[in-house]
Amino acid sequence: MSDFDLVIRNGVVALPAGAARVDIGIMAGKVAAVTDQGNLKGTEVLDASGMLVFPGAIDMHVHFREPGFEDKEDFLHGTAAAACGGVTTICDMPNTHPPVTSPDRFAEKLARVSKSAHVDFALWAGGVRIEHFAAMDELGAIGLKVYMNRALRAMEPYAGELAMPDDATFVKTLKAAAGLDWPVSVHVANSAIDEAAREDYQTSGSVDPMDVCCSFRSPESVEALSRAALFARLAGARLHIAHISLNALAALDALVEARNRGAKVTAEIVPPALSFEELPRLGAMGIPFAHAPGELDRYWNALAMGVIDVVATDHAPHTRAEKEAGRANPWKAPPGYPGVETSLPILVDAMLHNRISIEVLVKVMSENPARILGLESKGAILPGRDADLVLVDPEADWVVDETRLHSKSGWSPFQGRRLKGRLRLTMLRGNVIARDGEITAARPLGQQLRRMRPLNETESRIARGSTGQLRRLLRGGKTSKVPVTTSR
Ligand code: DOR
Ligand code: ZN
Repeated sequence: MSDFDLVIRNGVVALPAGAARVDIGIMAGKVAAVTDQGNLKGTEVLDASGMLVFPGAIDMHVHFREPGFEDKEDFLHGTAAAACGGVTTICDMPNTHPPVTSPDRFAEKLARVSKSAHVDFALWAGGVRIEHFAAMDELGAIGLKVYMNRALRAMEPYAGELAMPDDATFVKTLKAAAGLDWPVSVHVANSAIDEAAREDYQTSGSVDPMDVCCSFRSPESVEALSRAALFARLAGARLHIAHISLNALAALDALVEARNRGAKVTAEIVPPALSFEELPRLGAMGIPFAHAPGELDRYWNALAMGVIDVVATDHAPHTRAEKEAGRANPWKAPPGYPGVETSLPILVDAMLHNRISIEVLVKVMSENPARILGLESKGAILPGRDADLVLVDPEADWVVDETRLHSKSGWSPFQGRRLKGRLRLTMLRGNVIARDGEITAARPLGQQLRRMRPLNETESRIARGSTGQLRRLLRGGKTSKVPVTTSR
């Protein structure tokens, strides 16, 4: 009789401590054993000879546009793109229509998207209606998203409710989020400074997409990161900086400084892989995360050094028409681009070209987002975790072909890019859901994920104390979800 439902044999496996030649035993959708090769018996065996085996990636920042903007994207397409790109968990942002700022809207969105997700998912809550936070937490909100900027265009989904009206509200919001131990993902900006920069560029007659990118990057605007970190520290909140390369490079220094002062602050970046040199061809499609090549190096180094914790894509599926409309005047195009299907491939390519190590790749794509979000069943190939795995052939080259990607938006700024390392298979909780860039699951198998709440200080003290106290703690309502993860 076999010991496991499935054994993955002969692969080189990306474990938290580094790559190892081990076999993986899977039982009931979980990793049940990770051990020396040749020792495990499975009902089914998958031969991973010549393959690298990664934990499924977690993209903690995507915009799947449902409800309200289904002409651009929906959960079915967005999660199919994720699955084919080796992303087995996504966290969807609340700037939908209506924006997710109340339990009713949260529940409505959840009901709507639940059956069409090809990968596991969590939903962010948004906004400043703190009276609704606890109820959204109960429904499984993974954290809170807020914008420090005003919207550039009236029709933009975060136009009203998700933007921070003033600092006093920001402080209150952070305190409320701290009470729930929610990570607070912040789109960092000083709107007055950014808008002035925008106006100056436009007055000078610029229609250069590079200037649009730079208009978000006034060094002075970085004060917004320091301010947010100060407020978060005083509130005891966990701050998470969304797409840090939207801001000036100096945001990295502000990040390190905030941490040195004791702020609990993490940061994500979109794959630093679009160069200014590509903008003449890409036009508005490369806005806003294109950079000078030297700056891209700095971001890769920041990932390698652990200054930036996470790669997340901000998967922002605008229609091709919306972006093309910015060809003549890029100031008119909405910022952001789709990326959930190309992100792990770009990181694998970077690893195979020695820009980052395999350990760093696994940290920024899987381990760190799982830790920040309290997704204790995700993030690593370890016994007890979900069997979310990606098999990659490191020898195969391929070329990104936007007609074969799965986002409803139908385009990619990485169109035509040759990448080393081909994703061969994606597995979600032991089920093969995609092979060679196509969905193989007969139906969407994704489930909603809930955050495991770390114990607060008093609770941890009790948990370390007598078993009688521990029993009382376990009986006491919400704290009965005793977590195994800790967070910064
Ligand atoms: O570039 C962006 N696009 N940044 C955001 O925060 C929103 C996003 C979108 O929804 O398109
Ligand atoms: Zn975003």
